[in-house]
Amino acid sequence: MRICSTRCPPSQGIGSESGGAALSPLEYAFVRIYLDHNATTPVRQEVVDAMLPVLREDFGNPSSTHAEGAAARKLVERAREQVGGALGAAADEVFFSAGATESNNAVLYGVLRGAAAAGAATHLVTTQIEHPSVVEPCELLEREGVSVSRVGVDEDGLLDLGGFDEALGRQGTALASVIWANNETGVVQPLTEIGASVGRHGVPLHVDATQALGKIRIDLQDVPVDFLSCSAHKLNGPKGVGALVVRRGCEIPPLLVGGPQEKRRRGGTENVASIVGFGVACELARLECAARATRYASLRDRLWEGIAAKVPRVRRNGHPEQVLPNTLSVEVTGAPGEVILQALDLEGVAASAGAACHSGSITPSHVLSAMGRTPEQARSSLRLSVGMGVDEGQIDRVVALLAELVSRARAVEAP
Ligand SMILES: Cc1ncc(COP(=O)(O)O)c(C=O)c1O
Repeated sequence: MRICSTRCPPSQGIGSESGGAALSPLEYAFVRIYLDHNATTPVRQEVVDAMLPVLREDFGNPSSTHAEGAAARKLVERAREQVGGALGAAADEVFFSAGATESNNAVLYGVLRGAAAAGAATHLVTTQIEHPSVVEPCELLEREGVSVSRVGVDEDGLLDLGGFDEALGRQGTALASVIWANNETGVVQPLTEIGASVGRHGVPLHVDATQALGKIRIDLQDVPVDFLSCSAHKLNGPKGVGALVVRRGCEIPPLLVGGPQEKRRRGGTENVASIVGFGVACELARLECAARATRYASLRDRLWEGIAAKVPRVRRNGHPEQVLPNTLSVEVTGAPGEVILQALDLEGVAASAGAACHSGSITPSHVLSAMGRTPEQARSSLRLSVGMGVDEGQIDRVVALLAELVSRARAVEAP
């Protein structure tokens, strides 16, 4: 399968951020077009280059006191600084995990079970548009006796700030957990207002910044976040590695016990090569964030303008401005999302109908349902997310394909 390898000049390798030489329409027909960067991203060449020597040579265990161990420890600590740098956090606030699912689980279980064990009241405030890695721990905690308030959003996907504030005021609120940027719609929540609200009530705040990191500016010096989850594979890093940021003064018990690693916050030998790759991906994201945002927004806007001009009866899901620069969620009335996705895939285009974890399932998206969409409307929605390697020619080809495939799908649905 080729994504951008045939397009990028050799000097840029497989993982270049900038677009390569333009292809002819015929050439595009033979190259995969990847518009599912919110599901996962191709790995940057610089990340691969940094990881390979670690796999080949620097195999030491960072907990060992000999030279090999010390070399591996140095690599992990350098990556910790790079991840902290991309978030505006101090290196000693960053703890590596196996990804955002683990980080989300660690915070929710850590804070709520910790409060229950201490005999404190346990009320958790979250939203109706969280990723399953928050939704499902909340459901399990509820079965353990935790009371959970799930605050709604408006039709643009923005949090009901009044409802959020009211929920925080409930006696015994131990934690608020909010997704910073939504994986399905890309809608970015107003963190300043959310921060002011948790500050007024003295409630610790956890944010799931998995989709936000690398796409919008994050500086934890500006927002009163106590815990933050993120993941390397959403920003051109490797899969299976992420971080939990625990701000100074905040404490949670570890999810995984069994060793002194990560200052006893997470037992288990560190995944050194992946941590190194994550560090490089964060460093690149920090340096390139503004340029990426401009480039992605221009591709995303070209996509939306093309679709709006060539495909009748479409509407955009989510706030048009408070949104990630790379994400477009579109409702295509009368055309089932899964049918369009399959047809796009056969034509060489990867996209998504909702969260990647739900691909293959036709259960209407809980995020779009929370925004007031009917099951039918949610089922007719597509998520197109741009990123590294995508260029204008690919966008134009996808627009042309959609115009054709949607009209065919509608003809089948309503003959
Ligand atoms: C918002 C959000 N949170 C959490 C996750 C889970 O991340 P990971 O794949 O690293 O476990 C994802 C991945 O899709 C996500 O989009």
